[in-house]
Amino acid sequence: MSVLLKNGLVVTSTGSAVADVFMDGETIKAVGSGLPMKADETVDASGKYILPGAIDPHTHIDMPFMGTTSSDDWKTGSIAAACGGTTCIIDFNLQGKGESLKDAVEKQKAKAAGKSVVDFSIHPGVTDARPDVIDEVKKAIHEYGTPSFKIFLFYDFRVDDYAMIRLLEETKTHGGLVQVHAESFDIIRRLNEQFAATGKLGPMQHARAHAILAEEQAIQRCAAAVELTGSRIYIVHLSSGQGLWKVREARDRGLHVYAETCPQYLTLTEERYDEPDWNGAKYVMSPPLRPRESQDEMWLGLRDGDVQTVGTDHCPFNFKGQKDMNGKADYKVIPNGAPGIETMLMLLHTEGVVKGRISLERMVDVLSTGTARMFGLANKGAIAPGKDADVVVFDPKRKFTITQKKLHMNVDYTPWEGWEMTGMPEIVYSRGKKVAEWSGDQVKFVGSAGAGKFVKRVPLAAY
Ligand code: URP
Ligand code: ZN
Ligand code: ZN
Repeated sequence: MSVLLKNGLVVTSTGSAVADVFMDGETIKAVGSGLPMKADETVDASGKYILPGAIDPHTHIDMPFMGTTSSDDWKTGSIAAACGGTTCIIDFNLQGKGESLKDAVEKQKAKAAGKSVVDFSIHPGVTDARPDVIDEVKKAIHEYGTPSFKIFLFYDFRVDDYAMIRLLEETKTHGGLVQVHAESFDIIRRLNEQFAATGKLGPMQHARAHAILAEEQAIQRCAAAVELTGSRIYIVHLSSGQGLWKVREARDRGLHVYAETCPQYLTLTEERYDEPDWNGAKYVMSPPLRPRESQDEMWLGLRDGDVQTVGTDHCPFNFKGQKDMNGKADYKVIPNGAPGIETMLMLLHTEGVVKGRISLERMVDVLSTGTARMFGLANKGAIAPGKDADVVVFDPKRKFTITQKKLHMNVDYTPWEGWEMTGMPEIVYSRGKKVAEWSGDQVKFVGSAGAGKFVKRVPLAAY
């Protein structure tokens, strides 16, 4: 099957031009104006953007967590991704105690197999940094095709700085990347104790306990570990302006400290925790939503390059039945996480590009091209000959009001209910096959379960 997209604005991370794109089978074969190829299907893309499919480097699909399991499985989660213009997902799977990294990768691959409608990869989450696990890092990079490793400095499965340092050493040697949930456990622990003593335990106290200081201090520790090892680190879900300043300070000193932020930190603020009827529980996530100033800083970070990627941290729990499963008396037992896998591209376009906070080209870089480069997805992330035909024909004028009823995630709310979007996917291709298209008043899924495959990623560039 071949497809010719005619006269769309082809957007790359470095520039845009009106051109045709010819896709044959699973691959982009040619990009240029007036391409002469005959195709099985020709699409008039004039007035539309031709974007590389977004890559979501931060999801928690079908993940056991805080006494429950995130509500999207690989079928519903990947369908939602496709309908939002995301054509590759890199999901986390945490190593259990005593398990190998291979176990963590294979378990999640097995869950995704036969279900995922778009391509996917896995970041093994290191929770048990035994010497044999440190030794396994080389194999994970060169054999398993998973060169990035997630660690947490918060939660029960956190690791200590020694483990972080050892992982940084190994990834430096073999071409990998350590990703960190950067919140200081001890600061949050002490604030939790203080709030418990006051008896104030509503959703807003979650944001107070997960103080900005906890993010700053953890990033400082990450930067010190990078300085010690000469390695590189990637801060996931950066939420605060002050945290960004720590990232920037480290980068200004020449340290390889990278950062990802999420649509929720770019668009929502901490006032949400005070919504009536315990609605604030919908936004209980770690790190929490921050004051408005942090949001502005995060857009500046994205624009100026100190933040290199956007991921969703998609970790959905139903408001009824999961968020409230342990009662409403204490924020500490509310499952942490929120849905977002479907709304990333539309929010970045509407809130970022349309509002003039980032350019179209920068949007493509932080959602696709830069993400592919960061995580070793050699065949993805750009509209260029030889790349996988993961392509979004995007209508920049299409209006859509976000409502959970018209989204595909298996969860009972969206944090952006009622938000007006400008710009939506018109057609989404995953390795040359149409997986989603605009129909009537929403995007509909037209692909097939199991068509997505595990992508082996390549080691990252040597130092
Ligand atoms: O609250 C969150 N972010 N839940 C998912 C797990 C994590 O910390 O990324
Ligand atoms: Zn996290
Ligand atoms: Zn996460």
